[in-house]
Amino acid sequence: MLNIALPKGRLGEKVYDIFEKAGFECPSIRENNRKLIFENEEKKLRYFWVKPSDVAIYVERGAADVGVCGKDILLEYRPDVYELTDLGIGRCRMAVASAKDYEDDGQKTVRAATKFARITRDYYASLGRDVDVIHLNGSIELAPILGLSDVIVDIVETGTTLKENKLKIVTEIFPISARLIANKAASKFKGELIGSLSAKIAKLTESEQ
Ligand code: PRP
Repeated sequence: MLNIALPKGRLGEKVYDIFEKAGFECPSIRENNRKLIFENEEKKLRYFWVKPSDVAIYVERGAADVGVCGKDILLEYRPDVYELTDLGIGRCRMAVASAKDYEDDGQKTVRAATKFARITRDYYASLGRDVDVIHLNGSIELAPILGLSDVIVDIVETGTTLKENKLKIVTEIFPISARLIANKAASKFKGELIGSLSAKIAKLTESEQ
């Protein structure tokens, strides 16, 4: 059995379309019920839907042989997995944003609200700036509006959330897209299968790069 962890939600559906085109189909997954596990016994495939930020944990610990997650998760949690292929979908970017009237004096400790504490620390360390990381779990955009932070470090996709909350992008830190990742041990004992999956996906997504 090849165990595959997919990120639940819209991105996951696009990811499954790619796996299906690569010949790793599992028709029951299209039934669209509340089930979380789907098997294609003939092809020896087992898919499961997990919270996008949990995919790397399943793969790192071997509960899944392969999975797909965003580059943001790989940089934040640094899971001990192999990163195989860029799927070229789920494109967005990690950015620093602030209230429109915020001016950084380039000196003071920056108060940054974020779900991505490590990325935030690494980014400000690379600038040689002191940062006070305020870890939040969601609705990050509120923090600068209420004076909880000077800036936020968060994912920007369409830019609508920033716009609706009258925030501006200060800096784009890095681009993000979905990546195929593999468990290290599984890459040895199921290496051929994982290698062929990775190569087929790379071929299918070349045009997206
Ligand atoms: C992300 C991010 C922003 C929003 C950006 O949140 O934290 O709030 O998307 O997207 P936009 O630029 O297209 O407006 P998400 O919807 O993933 O929810 P979460 O905060 O629960 O992670």
